[in-house]
Amino acid sequence: MVSSRRSSESGVGADGSDGSGMGSDGSGVGSDIESSRRRQKPLSIVRQPAHDDVGRAVDGSRTLRVRRTGSSVTAMVDTQFSDRRLASLYDLFCPWDQRGDFTFYLPLVMSARSVLDVGCGTGALLRRAREDGHEGRLCGLDPGVGMLEVARECPDVEWVLGDLASAPGWSRAFDLVVMTGHAFQGLLGDDELRDALAAIATALTDDGRFVFETRNPLVREWEDWDVRYSGEVVDPTGAVVRCVCEVETPVRGDLVSATHTYTGAGWERPLLSRSTLRFLGPDALAGFLGEAGLVVAEQFGDWDGGPLTDTGPEIITVARHPRGERDGRAALAVSVMDARPSPSA
Ligand SMILES: C[S@@+](CC[C@H](N)C(=O)[O-])C[C@H]1O[C@@H](n2cnc3c(N)ncnc32)[C@H](O)[C@@H]1O
Repeated sequence: MVSSRRSSESGVGADGSDGSGMGSDGSGVGSDIESSRRRQKPLSIVRQPAHDDVGRAVDGSRTLRVRRTGSSVTAMVDTQFSDRRLASLYDLFCPWDQRGDFTFYLPLVMSARSVLDVGCGTGALLRRAREDGHEGRLCGLDPGVGMLEVARECPDVEWVLGDLASAPGWSRAFDLVVMTGHAFQGLLGDDELRDALAAIATALTDDGRFVFETRNPLVREWEDWDVRYSGEVVDPTGAVVRCVCEVETPVRGDLVSATHTYTGAGWERPLLSRSTLRFLGPDALAGFLGEAGLVVAEQFGDWDGGPLTDTGPEIITVARHPRGERDGRAALAVSVMDARPSPSA
């Protein structure tokens, strides 16, 4: 590897409360959200009648919202997650040892009996958990065809192609649901977010936990994404692949969009992927969680478990059902920090 981008998730995003008039509570920015959604995913919100050529694809017994281009059918996600070639580069650009989040999440996964990873990507977290001896149910859900193809190279985990809207109606099936790599920020519209959180609340056992992170909008991390998310890796064939990240400015509302342009030695042409992420603050998060019947149990501002602050990079949230307060002790550590190895371990 020549160099790689730092940290998790292939950036792109959105922002919120940056003082430019966008509400971090999701109010007043609906037109921004919807217009961004239309630009990014023109078919995904169109409720097409079922038709095998337009608007849906079948994976096993499930129907996915898709776009058909020529002979290929892709789920409505960023090109870097649907394209197999780009997906196979994801773990090179975002390697485990340069990510703080997996060190945080892995002990939680190992201490849970059944885990759903929403937006699991290449499945690195669940694959590692299985390798480390997890014996329970591990299920990864992702609408990115390319990402899931990479994940499926590990057969010991249940992989589901799709999003929470197309997923099986899991009910009280998981005692831990996670969204890592800032996958949560890909839920752009209020309705999409409400539907996703409602599905997660239903999928959780009474004493289960939903753990996810979103970037702190006050830190305005997108301002250095051109550096942070640009870089080079060497692919499995030995060819250098370069990624250039460019944030679209000015940022308006709580959405940030960016492009990633990938060029590789020997490639016919560059591959462009455009992404949009939403930045919500703690109050807005608590509001949406509350609508889904979940409460915030714990929040952290960084991967070391530091408190939430205006300058901390992350808003890491542990949510649960109010009814799970007492019984949660039996299933998971009382605090997610209890599941972590001690520094001397
Ligand atoms: C930045 S990647 C993170 C992947 C993985 N969680 C990780 O930490 O490496 C975001 C993932 O979210 C997936 N995704 C996009 N839209 C989604 C949705 N509506 N529901 C669930 N996952 C989605 C993408 O396909 C992609 O694999």
